[in-house]
Amino acid sequence: MKSHILTLLKSQEDVVSGEILSDALKTSRVSIWKHIRKLQDLGYQIDSSAKGYRLINSPDIPYPWEMIGREDRIHYYPEMSSTMDTACELARKGCPSMTVVIAGRQLNGRGRMDRKWLSDIGGLYFTMVLRPAISPALSAMVNFAASLSLVRTIRDLYDIKAQIRWPNDLLVNGKKLSGMLSEMEASSDIITHINIGIGVNVNNDPSKREPNATSLKFLRGQETSIKQLLTRFLEMFEPFSQNPTDHGVLKQWKKYAVTLGRDVKITTIHEEIEGRAVDVGEHGELILKLANGSTKSVIYGDCFHQ
Ligand code: BTN
Repeated sequence: MKSHILTLLKSQEDVVSGEILSDALKTSRVSIWKHIRKLQDLGYQIDSSAKGYRLINSPDIPYPWEMIGREDRIHYYPEMSSTMDTACELARKGCPSMTVVIAGRQLNGRGRMDRKWLSDIGGLYFTMVLRPAISPALSAMVNFAASLSLVRTIRDLYDIKAQIRWPNDLLVNGKKLSGMLSEMEASSDIITHINIGIGVNVNNDPSKREPNATSLKFLRGQETSIKQLLTRFLEMFEPFSQNPTDHGVLKQWKKYAVTLGRDVKITTIHEEIEGRAVDVGEHGELILKLANGSTKSVIYGDCFHQ
């Protein structure tokens, strides 16, 4: 009902009468009025007068009915603990691939390596539930496809020269714009689900608490539409979602990788390794050339450019 009313209001710059709405939606004018009140409570600016209703402004919130063609797979919450937890519950209940859980803000946003992810209002925080037809050994390619899609989305939409730091951080001028976290469940050799959580600093300002972070608002000097960013990202990513190894993802990812060819320090849970990052292998592992001339592969860790 909400999406029908909004479609009709959006199709007219002028006032749409209560009568036209109630005829089109086959419901009473009182029921239309109640729905309009609900939309106003959700942040839609709708003028109501004796002549009818006029949509003045829509909030920049990715409500399901705003994500045309994906309505059934979008779950939006103004505030929640972490999108990772809700996405995991939905995945275990059997939700379809490309189900997306979005939060306006998170109270317990999680980062990689047991860190917290600052999740103030104004950022984009979401987790996609995916069910790719690939072996668990290749699961990292899903993250690589996601960081490739995000870097392209940001370059296309805003002409910002974002780059990727291994494995999946987006940096602009050396500062972190977005991060990615993944959680997988598999049985024997089949992925039941892999959830990719992405946090993008959009209109929030993380730099006070994280000096090495930046945001689209800072980079562009203006507010950025979260709805548009998410819509374009999902369009860009969806073709990779079933089989991210099919599309030459790694080759394309390397074009945007700022890590390759650099001296880096990798911190894993057990050790710190320094070396020159020379390549990324088919499982997403970073291949390092060490000072003693040997090579070493690292599959998981934090990467610092020296
Ligand atoms: C990192 O760079 O450490 C990864 C950050 C991932 C943050 C996102 S925000 C949406 C999703 N929900 C979470 O709790 N974390 C991820």
